[in-house]
Amino acid sequence: MADEKIHLCVLTELAANPAMGFAIKSGGGDLHIFVVRHNDRLYGYINRCPHTGVNLDWLLDQFLDATGKLITCATHGAQFRIEDGYCIHGPCSGESLTPIAISSHDGWVFLQPG
Ligand code: FES
Repeated sequence: MADEKIHLCVLTELAANPAMGFAIKSGGGDLHIFVVRHNDRLYGYINRCPHTGVNLDWLLDQFLDATGKLITCATHGAQFRIEDGYCIHGPCSGESLTPIAISSHDGWVFLQPG
């Protein structure tokens, strides 16, 4: 991953759509991540289900269940808490998504280096 923070989007985009996915150039390929805005906080995770390693979303930026309160995997329906990525239901119960550092400044959302 880059040594400098990376602009992902403007914060207002995450008001209209509370979860968004991004592909970040990393080494020879893309790192797939997503950001969720929930209760005025930002949470970021690698877009990879702990069950099989596939991306979680089934359509562009579709990471949440119908309630908007849980992250869900489109493949086998695992459900994860937004706040810490912990899987509360599904074939990878007890495992967690991999968190990434997200920040917000001057109306922008950034991926922190590391
Ligand atoms: S691949 Fe995500 S629950 Fe099976």
